[in-house]
Amino acid sequence: MDQNNAVLLCVTKLREEEQRIIDHLAELGIQVQVNLDSMELPLGRSEDGPFGLALIRCLSQKNALHRTQFLELAGLETLNSIKAITICTNKIHQAIVFEKSGIPQPKFKLIFSPAKLFEAIQEFGDLCVIKPATSSWGRGIARITGRECLEGWIAARESVDPNHQAFPVLVQEYVEKGDYDIRVVIVGRTPIVAFRRVSEENWKTNTHLGAEIEPLTINEEIASICEQLVEVLGEGVYGADLFFDYKQLRYVVCEVNQNPEFAKSWKIHGVDVAYHIAQYVKDVLVRKSKVSVKVNSQ
Ligand SMILES: Nc1ncnc2c1ncn2[C@@H]1O[C@H](COP(=O)(O)OP(=O)(O)O)[C@@H](O)[C@H]1O
Ligand SMILES: [Mg+2]
Repeated sequence: MDQNNAVLLCVTKLREEEQRIIDHLAELGIQVQVNLDSMELPLGRSEDGPFGLALIRCLSQKNALHRTQFLELAGLETLNSIKAITICTNKIHQAIVFEKSGIPQPKFKLIFSPAKLFEAIQEFGDLCVIKPATSSWGRGIARITGRECLEGWIAARESVDPNHQAFPVLVQEYVEKGDYDIRVVIVGRTPIVAFRRVSEENWKTNTHLGAEIEPLTINEEIASICEQLVEVLGEGVYGADLFFDYKQLRYVVCEVNQNPEFAKSWKIHGVDVAYHIAQYVKDVLVRKSKVSVKVNSQ
């Protein structure tokens, strides 16, 4: 492999998404070594190794975080960055960072014990959403519609989590978002495509739960939120989930995913996300090689 011109692709398994990224990288002359979660990581001196970059596409957020930490400590640049992955794999981290940075998001509270949840739901007018810090595909996300509902939520967890290890949890106001949320895919600094995820049956509009995809034009407000997100998280590959809040008449950020899936959606909206990712990887490698040529010639 060419010195520093290959990519280490960290995955749990090679899905359609990753295979397509590999094919596009090959067309751009970039070699890829696939690294499964079960495999050893190349943690030697990174400047001597073949890899210019590690692309992190592990399914499990825990694996993504751990493997990125190891690679980063060994000196290999990762996409996304360790900072971005640390924030994006934790909904509480996101809420804190977005608050600090003035990124619009639903009103929220961090709650550290079950008893405190009762006060929190009152503050949100007996309608709110409880979220574990780490989750995806809508798992563990619960809409709470009053005291009795909350008692049920607490009771259902008591036997499986008697020491309340799952706390703190994030409590958000329930946003009147219509029957959809908005997914924007960002590559590098650019929002490359947006679409609505529409569900008439389920208030959770994850595509995994059956939401339908409807392409959407990226307007100025959406573009401006994406710019803010990139400012805060750094360049990278993101799936930003937004709501249009029909009460406040503004867009808010629900969450940002660090490993957006696109196998199903790109066939509907037609934007080849894998191509954009491959092209961006190439740009990063070229940028890096220019920097190292400059350093070496000084
Ligand atoms: N505060 C909220 N108000 C209304 N709907 C919400 C709220 N939070 C989440 N949802 C719905 O639940 C879905 C899953 O929540 P999300 O925070 O994105 O978790 P996940 O990581 O599991 O996708 C969202 O796509 C959205 O449809
Ligand atoms: Mg989501």
